[in-house]
Amino acid sequence: MDTKGKVIKCKAAIAWEANKPLSIEEVEVAPPKAHEIRIQIIATALCHSDAHILHPKFVNAFFPVILGHEAAGIVESVGPGVTNFKPGDKVIPLYAPHCKKCKFCLSARTNFCAKLSPFKNPIVDQELMEDKTSRFTCKGKPVYHFMGTSTFTQYTVISETNLVKIDDDVNLEKVCLFGCAFSTGYGAVINTAKVTPGSTCAIFGLGGVGISVVVGCKLAGASRIIAIDINSEKFAKAKALGATDCLNPRDLQKPIQDVIIEMTNGGVDFSFDCAGGSEVMKAALDCTTVGWGSCTLIGVAIGDPGLTVDPLEILMGRTINGTIFGGWKGKDSIPKLIADYKNKKFNLDALVTHTLPFNKINEAFDLMYQGKSLRTVLTF
Ligand code: APR
Ligand code: ZN
Repeated sequence: MDTKGKVIKCKAAIAWEANKPLSIEEVEVAPPKAHEIRIQIIATALCHSDAHILHPKFVNAFFPVILGHEAAGIVESVGPGVTNFKPGDKVIPLYAPHCKKCKFCLSARTNFCAKLSPFKNPIVDQELMEDKTSRFTCKGKPVYHFMGTSTFTQYTVISETNLVKIDDDVNLEKVCLFGCAFSTGYGAVINTAKVTPGSTCAIFGLGGVGISVVVGCKLAGASRIIAIDINSEKFAKAKALGATDCLNPRDLQKPIQDVIIEMTNGGVDFSFDCAGGSEVMKAALDCTTVGWGSCTLIGVAIGDPGLTVDPLEILMGRTINGTIFGGWKGKDSIPKLIADYKNKKFNLDALVTHTLPFNKINEAFDLMYQGKSLRTVLTF
């Protein structure tokens, strides 16, 4: 059936309000407008950032909304003015836009794009299309988009700035992880921290993002990779992928930073916070060495007061970096990462711990909350 130019009725998971399970509903997905593309989502994973919006303490949340930002799909139809995509193309949505025109996109120094607001948390940005309307309707009500992607639906509409075409011969159930987890963690190592061979690294939080940092540190040639989590069940996978030491702060008699400083004769060269929260951020900064210690922040905790820094720590030569989407400029970098994956440079498949049918999306959230999954991939 030719659906081009028509409204598509399909299944989507709607978040009607905070702190409630998602509900599978029939939604109407309008055709793409100028410079937009309608996509059939084939596989979508979930990430802790999807859960943030549902957190009762999260301010600025908007409902009803279709969450999801880590996915892969196939182009169904394109709107006027779209020249780089055609029906049938395999694609990955990019929550970090890449317009290729703004001063940031034209600079090699950042992957920030002026399409994002510098003042907003990215998870409450791009909640509508550029004309400030939504393409989704459910029960007669407009439904918000999420992070410019909204992938918890059979069909979604995405701006051409937020989409990258990928090779035809890839498994979409695996490469969906390039949409966030793997790219974010691996890129934080390669692009943001620039981990050097022979260095020592500490990684706080071993979810999908933290485990991707472990993979990156191993590939960068780090000689010591210290993996930290309050859930010791995460250690087996971390060790299999390159961690040399695993620590659970709850099993220690001293603060975790003191233990790491002792283990590394003064502190690590590179640390990564992949959990979020002031305590973890502080430990990640404190455990780096004076002189050149580099602390990269990736995690975000909801309702957290933030990090208070003693200026002396920085004056002594430490740096704090931050990164979204691992510093990658999506349209240029994702095809290269996919080529590396096809050449078996890294083990992406190890991150997929569960695969479930889309209807079981709330089970997938439970697996994440219970710390049982790294990534659950939902298929339609
Ligand atoms: N110390 C160490 N590890 C911790 C701590 C802590 N104080 N608190 C939580 N963790 C661990 C959890 O046990 C879990 O294994 O951090 C890990 C976080 O993993 P996920 O929940 O799977 O999150 P992930 O999808 O990897 O995202 C990591 O990046 O996108 C942001 O907001 C997201 O903060 C989240 C982070
Ligand atoms: Zn994410």
